[in-house]
Amino acid sequence: SQVPTPKNEPVRSYAPGSAEIKSLIATYQKMWSEEVEIPMVIDGKEVKTGEKVSLHSPQDHQHTLGYYHKGNKQHVDDAINSCLKARAEWANLPWEQRASIFLKAADLLAGPYRDKINAATMIGQSKNAMQAEIDSACEAIDFLRFNVQFMTELYSEQPVSDAGIWNRAEYRPLEGFTYAITPFNFTAISLNLPTSMAMMGNVVVWKPSATQIYSAKVIMDVLIEAGLPAGVINMVFSGGAETSKQILEHPDFSGIHFTGSTEVFQSLWRQIGENIHKYKTYPRIVGETGGKDFVVAHPSAVPSQVATALVRGAFEYQGQKCSAASRAYVPQSLWGEVKRIMGEQLAEIKMGSPEDPSNFVNAVIDKASFEKCKGYIERAQNANDAEVIFGGGCDDSKGWFVQPTVIQAKNPHYESMEEEIFGPILTIYVYEDQDWKATLQLVDETSPYALTGAVFAQDRYAINEATKALENAAGNFYINDKPTGAVVGQQPFGGARASGTNDKAGSKMNLLRWVSARSIKENF
Ligand code: SER
Repeated sequence: SQVPTPKNEPVRSYAPGSAEIKSLIATYQKMWSEEVEIPMVIDGKEVKTGEKVSLHSPQDHQHTLGYYHKGNKQHVDDAINSCLKARAEWANLPWEQRASIFLKAADLLAGPYRDKINAATMIGQSKNAMQAEIDSACEAIDFLRFNVQFMTELYSEQPVSDAGIWNRAEYRPLEGFTYAITPFNFTAISLNLPTSMAMMGNVVVWKPSATQIYSAKVIMDVLIEAGLPAGVINMVFSGGAETSKQILEHPDFSGIHFTGSTEVFQSLWRQIGENIHKYKTYPRIVGETGGKDFVVAHPSAVPSQVATALVRGAFEYQGQKCSAASRAYVPQSLWGEVKRIMGEQLAEIKMGSPEDPSNFVNAVIDKASFEKCKGYIERAQNANDAEVIFGGGCDDSKGWFVQPTVIQAKNPHYESMEEEIFGPILTIYVYEDQDWKATLQLVDETSPYALTGAVFAQDRYAINEATKALENAAGNFYINDKPTGAVVGQQPFGGARASGTNDKAGSKMNLLRWVSARSIKENF
């Protein structure tokens, strides 16, 4: 069988005054003014526990959007049991039938749900219209359509046979149930983690981040409307640490798909190790975790390209993309020009609520993130070996707003050159032109993470040197481009070292982790 050939979903431009942007903002305003009640979904049923937790928007922490129903240990048990009940039928459903559900979900997101999922992402996670569009519409749709394509390619990969023998590969789902823990920063990741496992015939307990529940509800609505049977994906809102502890002690736990912090992932991995004797199978462990993504410019780079990449790469979505540029190495000979152009571009940037589409920068996700950013900025303002050269303003009177901030570090080991912040703060180290090779070595040595990175150069030898020297320092490496914005099907995404297991989201590599293959030999 063949499935419709996937193409990347075209990005709407949301031009000022266009019908598209008017419709999106009208949806935003309507959703903003309605109080929402968000139940968990277990065994296809809405579960209202009565333990209500109020939901707020990062751009206005006083405004209550509504509330969600928090679950407890019993609900997690119910979700696991619901998975185990649904498993046999789901796992044995022909793949075409499963594929149809996810293709329909993609069409629902592309059409009738597009404004709703984008507005939910704008309100709940503080993304502007364009950032919401490339995430919760286009990337989410692409994940669904491309994964269906990859699934069919995978299933068609068969061993050779011989005279009188027919060898077959059967790609079974994992035995037991799987667990998805998803982050706040991409609605598309939140959709991809549970659906990619379910697509391969697995049943899933899905725990979205508490700061992404508002758009997670829309994902669940779409999946149900697309025909996802009861119990295949169960969405629970319960305390992260306790939920994970409970799930990871279960003998039927068979795999985890995680995006979040390095620290949490390592703790989950340790728990899996502790419990390993309890499981029926060795669990699959797939994680995308932290990063300290770099941009390194060579003296042959074009200064305007470097400046634009830094501004967009570091400050789109307030630097809260796992791929965001957060440290840069710029040669002395280019620095004056790069700094001047960055200054011009930063002066044009507006900050505020996504309700006004001209706001390029919106709020950071929550108080903890705001405080963390503020701490880094204040310490840089008082440091001897660093200086805040742009931005630095923090205002939490209405929402969690942190101005795009550039720190110039005199010391390449200054804290914000090495520590992950996950906010709109970029730190730049200016190196002497003749130290190019030493700088590449420095970038690699200060990369415990290896998610994304970029080199800017026109000199082909320099491009080659950087590509070689940094071969293990970034799972996604960009040449003359910003390190963000990987497109499904074009740049499979994921990092190594402390950034994750590098199983490339939106690829066959990822889907392969969710199957347990059986070799069948038949003699004639
Ligand atoms: N995939 C996103 C990007 O490339 C980050 O998660 O920007």
